[in-house]
Amino acid sequence: MTSKFAPAVIVELAWRDTAQVDAVLLGEARAWLRADESARVDRLVRDADRRNALVGRWLVRRLLARATATAPADWALAPGPHGRPEPAHPSIAVPPSINFSHTRTVVVAALCRDAAVGIDVEHPARVAPVERLARFFSPAEVAWLTALDVAGRQLGFWRLWTLKEAWLKARGSGITGALDSTTIGFADPAPPRLLAARDDEPAAWRFAEVDLAPGFLTAVAVRCGSRELAVERGVA
Ligand SMILES: CC(C)(COP(=O)(O)OP(=O)(O)OC[C@H]1O[C@@H](n2cnc3c(N)ncnc32)[C@H](O)[C@@H]1OP(=O)(O)O)[C@@H](O)C(=O)NCCC(=O)NCCS
Repeated sequence: MTSKFAPAVIVELAWRDTAQVDAVLLGEARAWLRADESARVDRLVRDADRRNALVGRWLVRRLLARATATAPADWALAPGPHGRPEPAHPSIAVPPSINFSHTRTVVVAALCRDAAVGIDVEHPARVAPVERLARFFSPAEVAWLTALDVAGRQLGFWRLWTLKEAWLKARGSGITGALDSTTIGFADPAPPRLLAARDDEPAAWRFAEVDLAPGFLTAVAVRCGSRELAVERGVA
């Protein structure tokens, strides 16, 4: 049961439009990378992808630095077993959880000091593959989506997608087998909830749909346990 007196788990968010960032920011971002990270960014073919990757890493290092009173350059980001970047600092044994996401020219980032966090951003006008709902969603989610009209289904698709993707990214486990056995339910205006998940504890998760980057859908998922979630639009 949720305790009324337990402090909320706070997630701090930040974002940038990569079309607007200047050379100073990109130079800082590059200078803060470790050699292996730099090589990974350089393997990206498109300039826009390299820019998004750099800005994402800049944002999470800024969030980490602010949260822990450290220097952004002191942080390393190394991919975990399924590719999730995990922060490491020479003198911080248990770093905050971070994650970032990018689409088009928007990059969003999240930090949570004491619980696993995932974040996803999408543009709601991106054509949704609504003919393949069962590939991404559980039967209960498919039933919810198919009851909507065409416009509602398009928006509902991306709302569910971002929430589920944020949850997958918080778990850091990859997507194998997790999509059609996981159900997220809406009870607007209450936040969405995880109703079913084969190998997880639904009650431990909290979600938020956040109006962060104007015109884009951003969702965060945090493994809060029995605590509530509070969202802060941080300044990175
Ligand atoms: C790779 C994946 C993490 C997300 O990919 P995506 O949506 O294309 O990209 P996003 O911009 O949201 O996130 C990419 C960032 O997530 C991070 N990331 C990479 N692997 C990750 C993982 N396993 N877990 C968490 N975060 C991860 C990295 O920071 C990455 O940035 P980078 O590309 O600059 O290194 C993964 O969840 C995936 O392949 N999803 C498939 C999509 C799908 O079927 N979703 C179903 C939703 S219903």
